[in-house]
Amino acid sequence: MRLRVKVWRGSAEGSFQAFDVPRHASQTVLDVVTHIQRVLDPTLAYRFACRVGMCGSCAMTVNGQPRWTCRTHVDSVLQDQEEITIAPLRNLPVIRDLVTDMREFFDKWAKAKGSFEGKRSRRDDFEKISPESENRQKVDAGIECIGCGVCYSACDVVAWNPDYLGPAALNRAWTLVRDERNARGLERLRAVAGDAGCHACHTHMSCTERCPKNISPTAAIAGLKQAVFAAVLKGRL
Ligand code: SF4
Ligand code: SF4
Ligand code: FES
Repeated sequence: MRLRVKVWRGSAEGSFQAFDVPRHASQTVLDVVTHIQRVLDPTLAYRFACRVGMCGSCAMTVNGQPRWTCRTHVDSVLQDQEEITIAPLRNLPVIRDLVTDMREFFDKWAKAKGSFEGKRSRRDDFEKISPESENRQKVDAGIECIGCGVCYSACDVVAWNPDYLGPAALNRAWTLVRDERNARGLERLRAVAGDAGCHACHTHMSCTERCPKNISPTAAIAGLKQAVFAAVLKGRL
């Protein structure tokens, strides 16, 4: 059996190129792209690393939806169609073919103060946070983010407003706001409270529907809105 595949070639300007790829049982979309690059056209550019859903580097648009391609089976995206269309992630500049430039995605993590800064020094003991902690339970799921960019690509507000920090950076900020070891609470709330921050989210839920790790950036953003509001009421922001 064969599979017809259309793959984006070029950068912002380009077109789809058709390939004919052999079908296999349990074949993933990443297997398809790898076959094209190794057997049919070695100039095809794409990105992957782990192949097991850990690194977040293999995300692409498959039949119109952003997905992690190493864990997406061809059977699950074909449905009634006989061909599969593979393009780079939406909302990010395309470097070449299926490779996007992720700099603005990670720059926004930095703008949202997405790096951990603890209260203790290296001379102190590790701070232990009980699994029973309410704060920890609120963010334990969110820290599993692999930075794949699927949610960012799915978000229409990012498409309308390129300054919007986006679901992944805001989810990251939320995990730190609720981290009891964290030292930059107010600074981070200030960073996510502006026009391009949590209040720009229209609660469309596309990010939550598409996240391959079953994280809910929508819930994280709602938590940030409440935290900002509470800080304003207390006169701290
Ligand atoms: S819920 Fe907010 S962040 Fe998520 S896709 Fe919708 S607008 Fe974007
Ligand atoms: S929140 Fe989900 S979709 Fe978004 S970057 Fe993290 S793992 Fe990927
Ligand atoms: S290759 Fe690492 S998540 Fe797909």
